Amino acid sequence: MKECRLAVFCSGYGSNFQAILDAIRKKKLNASIALMVCDNPSAYALTRAKKDRVPVFLFNPKLFKSRKAYEKILTCVLKSQQTDLVVLAGFMRILTPYFVRTLRDRILNIHPSLLPRFKGAHAIRDAFEAGVKETGVTVHLVTEKVDAGPILLQKKVPVSKTDTLRSLETKIHRAEHRLYPLAVKKYISYNNRTSKLKEK
Ligand code: GAR
Repeated sequence: MKECRLAVFCSGYGSNFQAILDAIRKKKLNASIALMVCDNPSAYALTRAKKDRVPVFLFNPKLFKSRKAYEKILTCVLKSQQTDLVVLAGFMRILTPYFVRTLRDRILNIHPSLLPRFKGAHAIRDAFEAGVKETGVTVHLVTEKVDAGPILLQKKVPVSKTDTLRSLETKIHRAEHRLYPLAVKKYISYNNRTSKLKEK
């Protein structure tokens, strides 16, 4: 079975990138990280990529006329690296319909809530402030609508009375690090099965 080549997109700390890389190293995932794409020169994710010798494509969105202009470059880079799947791991930019359509059904995102609840950039804080008894983590396929594509996996995280925003963030991140490698694995095995069916 062909190894799935991932492009992991990061903007910040990169702990989900690390969780996926660790799962690959432990042979829990039949994949390789062909590339990290990053839009932030001070992201700690870059230090992780350097340490693990993962090639990086770092770009400055401000140097481009439009989102579509840098996304055109990104699609060329992904093609040249022969990547099979884009894994958004804390990439804090909205993708245009152009990018989503070009890579239809080949972009995953992780979101720190039980979608469809608490969409947007501050999902953990929003859930905490809403006083919910449980929140969670969602991995979904990316479509033109933000935080709204078909859900691959979800994991509930209970909110206890003693939780602070900080402790809830820790619980959510722990759940993410378990869920994302499982979701990528599920995507890959589903894709392998459907491509075999198409070959028949
Ligand atoms: C993660 O909690 C991820 O769910 C969130 O950013 C964090 C990145 O952490 N993404 C979003 O909120 C997307 N809407 P990381 O850089 O340590 O992987």
